[in-house]
Amino acid sequence: MGQQGRSEARMRLWHNAASPFARKVRIVARETGLGALVDEVQTLVNPAKPNADLAKENPLVKIPALATPDLGTLYDSAVICEYLDSLNGEAPLFPKAGPERWRALRLQSLGDGILDAAVLLRYEGALRPEALRWADWVSGQWSKVRGGLNELERDCPTWDGRFGIGQITAACVLGYLDFRFPGENWRQPHPALAAWFAKISIRPSVKETVPA
Ligand code: BEZ
Repeated sequence: MGQQGRSEARMRLWHNAASPFARKVRIVARETGLGALVDEVQTLVNPAKPNADLAKENPLVKIPALATPDLGTLYDSAVICEYLDSLNGEAPLFPKAGPERWRALRLQSLGDGILDAAVLLRYEGALRPEALRWADWVSGQWSKVRGGLNELERDCPTWDGRFGIGQITAACVLGYLDFRFPGENWRQPHPALAAWFAKISIRPSVKETVPA
């Protein structure tokens, strides 16, 4: 053990550089100073194809999954992020208690929900055969994405320079939209969010994890 309960044993993170949920974890690993202990293992995920190696780690065959030294493999991104944060004694990314904790968890849920819809839209556009696509379902998912972005726009003036789990998730949302849906032009109707994203995009943890 190192400082304050911090295990120095190495961990393996199953991820894909395109995954916004895995990006949350990769940013948290860097923000908590644990990046050097986390070996990033890139794997391919496709809901229509088996991945036997990943299935051994996570029965849901989803990334991110973190193989830990003492707890087996943890999933999903919210659990892994809080676990990594718990290993770091200083400046928690998850507030420990009180209203700040609930605000941070709500913001994380909002961002995760936008990402759920955006990733489904990506799969719909990239993987589902055209003849099987359902236009009303697609527009329902876009309503979730756009409604969620409107809420982020309303909320971001209250963030006051914080870069905790809620803001990290928001950064992953905006990065994913730029990556997979560059034609969406989310900045124009969300100027406060656009200004916030421009500012935090120069953080090393954000720059080093831009989706590819
Ligand atoms: C993507 O390619 O957009 C993607 C990859 C892995 C997980 C989620 C999304």
